[in-house]
Amino acid sequence: MARRKKIYEGKAKILYEGPEPGTLVQYFKDDATAFNAEKRATIEGKGVLNNRLSEFFMTGLANIGVPNHFIKRLNMREQLIRQVEIIPLEVIVRNFAAGSMAKRLGLEEGTPLPRPIVEFSYKDDALGDPLVPEEYIMAFGWATQQDMDDIVALALRVNDFLSGVMFGVGIKLVDFKIEIGRIWDNDYMRLIVADEISPDSCRLWDIETGQKLDKDVFRRDLGNLTDAYTEVARRLGVLPTNVTHTTKPTLIN
Ligand code: TMP
Repeated sequence: MARRKKIYEGKAKILYEGPEPGTLVQYFKDDATAFNAEKRATIEGKGVLNNRLSEFFMTGLANIGVPNHFIKRLNMREQLIRQVEIIPLEVIVRNFAAGSMAKRLGLEEGTPLPRPIVEFSYKDDALGDPLVPEEYIMAFGWATQQDMDDIVALALRVNDFLSGVMFGVGIKLVDFKIEIGRIWDNDYMRLIVADEISPDSCRLWDIETGQKLDKDVFRRDLGNLTDAYTEVARRLGVLPTNVTHTTKPTLIN
């Protein structure tokens, strides 16, 4: 196969030039990082699971009318996406206190919030993705007031969709992060959900037991990350046929 042009390589994904203008191929790596890449590991099977799970969530969002970058899955690790201009923000929605919010405010993890809270971090690894107020976002020209209204509306729709889907399989959506991209149809600019939606970018707790089924398993050394993601995929009915890190063949009667 001809070598493809690499457009961008991040911590968990690689973007290659797509087959047509305006498209890219998004490749999901097995690499996991936490704490701004201070902690790293390769976790066999993670990329395959996230490719499937992101496809599942993005397809579902498209079906309820939330525009996003997903076009189609190409293979176990790759999906075709629309090329967007990424807004340099991590858009975080929280339903329950956890992670950095719990720490910042001294709240116990799992405390229900009075309403979903949307917050923004400036996407810059060197700075550790600092939390930024909307005032900064508009003053520095990363997004306009109209963009921010659209971004919050998108983020809350994604929150309602994901919360419902996860609730249906006995999982509580504690919080998540999305990224938003700009696309142009001639002179008309639109904002769409981009990047990925997967257990790498959400906090997912079993409703009954509170067991963590997301990247906190890796961040906090709580067990096997692939097992956690496999459980999410299994409950959602999107388990790929061929992802397993078990080595022993099983006899099927
Ligand atoms: P936080 O509590 O660490 O700020 O994380 C909030 C949510 O954002 C959580 O679901 C994990 C996700 N997240 C990312 O997807 N990427 C990141 O770099 C960070 C820090 C968090």
